[in-house]
Amino acid sequence: MLNTAFVIGDPISQSRSPLIHGYWLKQHGIAGSYRAIHVKQNELGAFLNGIVDNGFAGGNVTVPHKQAVFEHVKQHDEIAEIIGAVNTVWIEDGELRATNTDSFGFAHNLDERAPGWDNNHTALVLGAGGASRAIIHALKTRGFTDIRVANRGLSRAKELADRFGKNISAHPLEALNEISGDAGLVVNTTSLGMQGEGEIPLDMQKLQSNVLVTDIVYVPLETPFLKKARLAGLKTADGLGMLLHQARPGFEKWFGVMPEATTELRQLIIHDMDKAK
Ligand code: ATR
Repeated sequence: MLNTAFVIGDPISQSRSPLIHGYWLKQHGIAGSYRAIHVKQNELGAFLNGIVDNGFAGGNVTVPHKQAVFEHVKQHDEIAEIIGAVNTVWIEDGELRATNTDSFGFAHNLDERAPGWDNNHTALVLGAGGASRAIIHALKTRGFTDIRVANRGLSRAKELADRFGKNISAHPLEALNEISGDAGLVVNTTSLGMQGEGEIPLDMQKLQSNVLVTDIVYVPLETPFLKKARLAGLKTADGLGMLLHQARPGFEKWFGVMPEATTELRQLIIHDMDKAK
């Protein structure tokens, strides 16, 4: 049977996952398919219950369903449990399984674009939403021992500090400039700093000169936050690679090959983003 995978979300037309998986299917000569399916919240249960009968190998889950699918799928792994959300599902022994590959995607993107990013074990994470959890998981896995989470709503940052245990501290956004001076890594996981939103109140001059500044937002590729860091002479890494790398484990589950996030694939997505401008 032809292996078929999906990405579900609401909305879904903006998803670049079909382009990514389509590229890999072609590259590896696999006669499978991958498609975007618009699933609304009230259709989610029926869709998930029909995955096995409809012959899907599995798929990706995007906004706003990551948490709901986590709750629906009983067989999720430890990473999904820690993050409390899933982005990848597959069928194993006739049952639906789920995981979260955002942590993998984040770490592998930085491995590729900024080797040595995990040498200094102090990090500043802006934001305390779902994405922030995946980043904190990646940092803990890579041995970070001082993770400072700064968020507009302090209670949400505190929740994360409690959830992830020691080595994580919670701070209000107003304290950013007091806690940033010795960080080796600064990660933005908020939508602040995207076009039209407010500015992140971080003074780049307060950061040490060899810090790495990264953003998980990849549209635009160089966010205003990254631009500000670059203009201050700091090293930056954009978030597009996180999207490419988080897709790899899913492809392996559904189609049996671990694909690579090639330069050609990156260019393909950048080209598509340029077209949409
Ligand atoms: P995601 O899954 O992408 O992390 P989310 O769970 O909605 O999305 O989290 C969004 C993050 O961006 C939160 O940290 C949020 O801060 P609050 O917890 O205080 O809401 C942050 N954020 C969004 N808009 C913001 C704004 N205008 N100013 C400051 N922080 C903002």
